[in-house]
Amino acid sequence: MRSFQILSVLFFSLFLVNCYSKKEGFLQCLTKYSQKNVTKNIYSPNSPTYLSILEYAQKNPRWFNSSHPTFIASPKKESEIRPVILCSKKIGLEITIKSGGHDYEGISYRSESPFVMLDLSNLNKIKINLKEGTVWVQTGVTIGQLYYAIAKKSKVHGFPGGVCFSVGTGGMISGGGLGALMRKFGLAADNVVDARVMDVKGKILDGEKNKDLFWAIRGGGGASFGVILEWKLKLVRVPEKLTVFTIRRKLEGNRNLLQKWENISHQLPEDLFIRAVVQNRRSSEGNVNKKYVEFYFQAQYVGPVDELIPLLKQYFPEFNLERKDCYQENTTASAEKECHEVPWIGSVLHLFFRKPNDSPKVLLEKRIPIRKNFNKGTSDFVKTPIPESGWEMIERLLLEEERVQMIMEPLGGKLDKISESEIPFPHRKGNLYTIQYLVNWGNNSESISSQKIAWLRKFYKEMEPYVAKSPRTAYLNYRDFGLGTNEEDYSYSKAKIWGEKYFKGNFERLAKVKRKVDPTNFFRSEQSVPPYHLSH
Ligand SMILES: Cc1cc2nc3c(=O)[nH]c(=O)nc-3n(C[C@H](O)[C@H](O)[C@H](O)COP(=O)(O)OP(=O)(O)OC[C@H]3O[C@@H](n4cnc5c(N)ncnc54)[C@H](O)[C@@H]3O)c2cc1C
Ligand SMILES: *[C@@H]1O[C@H](CO)[C@@H](O)[C@H](O)[C@H]1NC(C)=O
Ligand SMILES: *[C@@H]1O[C@H](CO)[C@@H](O)[C@H](O)[C@H]1NC(C)=O
Ligand SMILES: *[C@@H]1O[C@H](CO)[C@@H](O)[C@H](O)[C@H]1NC(C)=O
Ligand SMILES: *[C@@H]1O[C@H](CO)[C@@H](O)[C@H](O)[C@H]1NC(C)=O
Ligand SMILES: *[C@@H]1O[C@H](CO)[C@@H](O)[C@H](O)[C@H]1NC(C)=O
Repeated sequence: MRSFQILSVLFFSLFLVNCYSKKEGFLQCLTKYSQKNVTKNIYSPNSPTYLSILEYAQKNPRWFNSSHPTFIASPKKESEIRPVILCSKKIGLEITIKSGGHDYEGISYRSESPFVMLDLSNLNKIKINLKEGTVWVQTGVTIGQLYYAIAKKSKVHGFPGGVCFSVGTGGMISGGGLGALMRKFGLAADNVVDARVMDVKGKILDGEKNKDLFWAIRGGGGASFGVILEWKLKLVRVPEKLTVFTIRRKLEGNRNLLQKWENISHQLPEDLFIRAVVQNRRSSEGNVNKKYVEFYFQAQYVGPVDELIPLLKQYFPEFNLERKDCYQENTTASAEKECHEVPWIGSVLHLFFRKPNDSPKVLLEKRIPIRKNFNKGTSDFVKTPIPESGWEMIERLLLEEERVQMIMEPLGGKLDKISESEIPFPHRKGNLYTIQYLVNWGNNSESISSQKIAWLRKFYKEMEPYVAKSPRTAYLNYRDFGLGTNEEDYSYSKAKIWGEKYFKGNFERLAKVKRKVDPTNFFRSEQSVPPYHLSH
């Protein structure tokens, strides 16, 4: 008994010393590695700004009450990153890299081990070269900031990235980047021409001389390989007028239209992108609170109304869209039919449910996310249209839950012309569209969260017969730990199970690049690519 007490006292003090030394050691180490007062942009839980930086980071608040970082590093200059990497490594702290903070499993701001969150959001310089048609962006830049900067400089340039303004270019581009211009220009990652990456030794590597690394970070996820500092992106040419429209229908009685969309959306002209969102709603007509399933098409045409109307007459006369529908100012996002002729930046606003003539300044908003919007997502790729029986199941399951969505984005066009191994994103020719499944809820109690996640898993299981097989594939940027995670030993053969869902045959090459650039596996997480190793 007595010796047990002594032992526990001893352990306890060792524990304290260990914690204490890690904290002090980190700060001391930083001072050693840099000339200036680097602790200036380092925040510990006692710093007054610590919590607000963390709150801004956590776009999905599910983990708000768990595993906070030992330190947050929010560098204002690139040169402040090197000491953070070297000292975390030396002291034995893990590191998470945070750009926009939208990771679906929160891996940019949480970890089971003591860690430093490297917050890149103050590194947000954008240098546009219109003559060359390129732009250098630091990876703390959000996609909204990038779109805004491009539109301010030019009416005829754009960039093919995703829809949500606050998503970071750090995460989105390193994971692929699907958006309304992809059928014409490819993914965001297909339009990267160079990058600068800081490796585990604090060395800056460029894309030109480090071909394997450059390949890996364009769709393979940044966080396994190093800190991506900057992207050099190719701007694309857009006309001065584009057209955006939304068409909304109940699923009941209109399933045929959705099935037609499945049949043809991937083979429409590349200028026409029509995505479909299926979701449940409650109608409050006449006091009856009845749940139903609806879908809406959200579309962008890279050209004026006068070109679009005849195209729709040919492919989707069911939309009944007339020229006059596109010149009404006051239609709202929930209208059955909405259409606008706009500059590219207006189309960006429309796709994210803003009025297309809103000030583009809303693209710059940096709002703290709503603390009560918890969510979970996962994804699939579809190779053949879902049969009638599949749609019956979908309607039944969507009616079981609240606030659920299936977001379906058509592929084809330019995406089919790029080979599966050109970059790590392999979901090219042969895929019709991608599905993102999402469930949202407002009470993070253990029982409610697990019920929502269980529903999503059930839905995912029921979808199996209708989606890509061997392997069943998924999109990295809709990260789902349910597909599998790394275990203690970061075994390559076990990681292959989830890795090949995201990357198919490219997973092996990613693991080989990892072995080369980060052999000690410093940049690691539940779903980081482990160094290639045949024996396990
Ligand atoms: C509301 C919403 C809408 C979305 N819409 C789209 C869409 O239209 N199209 C689409 O393709 N995706 C979309 N996504 C998914 C989004 O692209 C991914 O979640 C993306 O990974 C988020 O990037 P981030 O920088 O915001 O997130 P973060 O959480 O900061 O980062 C995501 C991952 O990238 C790593 N990372 C970030 N920056 C760097 C860096 N500089 N160097 C190395 N690693 C880095 C992080 O460590 C983490 O693993 C959407 C997500 C949400 C929540
Ligand atoms: C370094 O910066 C911190 C935070 O701004 C400040 O409290 C501290 O006094 C500074 N130290 C030196 C030596 O300037
Ligand atoms: C965090 O914990 C507090 C106190 O238990 C609780 O009120 C709050 O809802 C929790 N927040 C989240 C996002 O889970
Ligand atoms: C979709 O295509 C299939 C095969 O060509 C066809 O049998 C079916 O009728 C089409 N469905 C719709 C709704 O157009
Ligand atoms: C549109 O909205 C504006 C401002 O709310 C209003 O002044 C105008 O009368 C509306 N026009 C129509 C056609 O409803
Ligand atoms: C959240 O759900 C739990 C469990 O069902 C319940 O006890 C609690 O009251 C709910 N909280 C709120 C704020 O609704």
